[in-house]
This record gives sequence, C-alpha cells and structure tokens, in this order.
Amino acid sequence: MEFVSQILFSVVLLCLSTTVYTYGNGAPDTACSSMKPNHGAEASATAAPYNLQVSGSTYNPGQNITVTITGTPEYKGFLLQAREAGTSKIVGTWLSPPNNTKLLECTGSNAVTHANNQLKTGLVYTWMAPKSDAPKKVVFQATVVKVKAEFWMNILSSEFQLNGATSGLKYSACVLFSLLTVSLIRSI
Ligand SMILES: *[C@@H]1O[C@H](CO)[C@@H](O)[C@H](O)[C@H]1NC(C)=O
Ligand SMILES: *[C@@H]1O[C@H](CO)[C@@H](O)[C@H](O)[C@H]1NC(C)=O
Repeated sequence: MEFVSQILFSVVLLCLSTTVYTYGNGAPDTACSSMKPNHGAEASATAAPYNLQVSGSTYNPGQNITVTITGTPEYKGFLLQAREAGTSKIVGTWLSPPNNTKLLECTGSNAVTHANNQLKTGLVYTWMAPKSDAPKKVVFQATVVKVKAEFWMNILSSEFQLNGATSGLKYSACVLFSLLTVSLIRSI
C-alpha cells in the first residue's frame, strides 16, 4: 500500500509540475514593462477619456483578437499590450499594424505603438493569442497620449478568458491516470 501511495504521490507531483508556466526570453525593455512614455511629464490623474474595446470575451489559443482604442479626442501616441490578468507578464503577439503604427519588440512582437504623431482614431489592432501556455485570463493594457504633455496610463480592457479549462483538463487527465495506475497495481 505504501508503494501505491508513493506512485500516486509522484504522479500528482508530475501533474502539478506540467501546469507551471515558463517565462519568455528575459527581461523586456523599460517602456515594455513600465508602459510610461519618456516625456518627462506625469500621467494625467483624471479619468481617461479612452477605453479599450475587444472583440469577444473569450479566446482560443492562437486566435486573432481585435482591439480598438475608443474615445475622443483623436490620440497621437499609444502603447498597447496584452498581459496575463493580475500579472505583468506580456503575452501573445501583435500582427500587421495599421498605418501610422508599428510593432514593438518586448519579448517578441508583443506591443503595438505609434510610428508618428499624426492624430489617430478608429484603428483596429490585431493580437494573436499564444498557441501554447495560453493564460486563463488576459487583459489588454494601454497608455494613450493625447498630446505630449497629456497622457493616461493603465487603461484596461475587461478580462477575457481562455475557452475551456486547458490545465483543468490536463489535471483531470492526470488524476484519471493516477486512479487507473492505482487500480492496475492493486489488481496485480
Ligand atoms: C491570424 O492572422 C495571421 C496573419 O494574418 C494568420 O496567419 C493566422 O492564420 C490567423 N489565425 C487564425 C486562427 O485565424
Ligand atoms: C495606408 O497607407 C497606404 C499608403 O499611404 C494607403 O494606400 C492606404 O490606403 C492606407 N490604408 C488605410 C486603411 O488608411
């Protein structure tokens, strides 16, 4: 019986270790992590006149999601990222930036920012969810610059969720496997 519980214990340990995330390719540069423009000015303390509008409220690994910065007036600059909810981990990649914008390499192409100071409105940014290790909850986060001296930070979308519970499934499969192992050993 002790042998059985040892096996069970190892299998559960293995199950748990497979759900642990690994972090990307090292520290992102400072703008990537702080999302603060290098303007010398402080972020406005008033409520941001901008919001992030996201297509849908759930996602699948590898799915393309569109994000729009809504609100007025038109903005000159911005920095937009997706992060694992409740953490500072930057996730996914951004694709085909619209005119007057460009991709920023953080830990991959995982931010989009202005390429010039032309006024911008209605631009649609496309984010591709990670294909593996997709977080259960993602939040889009932006800094939006109206003019150099007036900008807002920490503009957040609502949380959106990974469809299905991938690691839950993985975990159930592991538990099922451990139970099978135990009954097999018992039947010997
Ligand atoms: C997302 O967009 C990229 C680039 O257009 C494309 O290669 C990829 O197949 C798209 N992914 C899905 C799931 O549609
Ligand atoms: C983007 O810029 C190109 C070249 O200036 C132009 O031809 C195209 O119409 C622009 N696209 C949009 C959506 O404005």
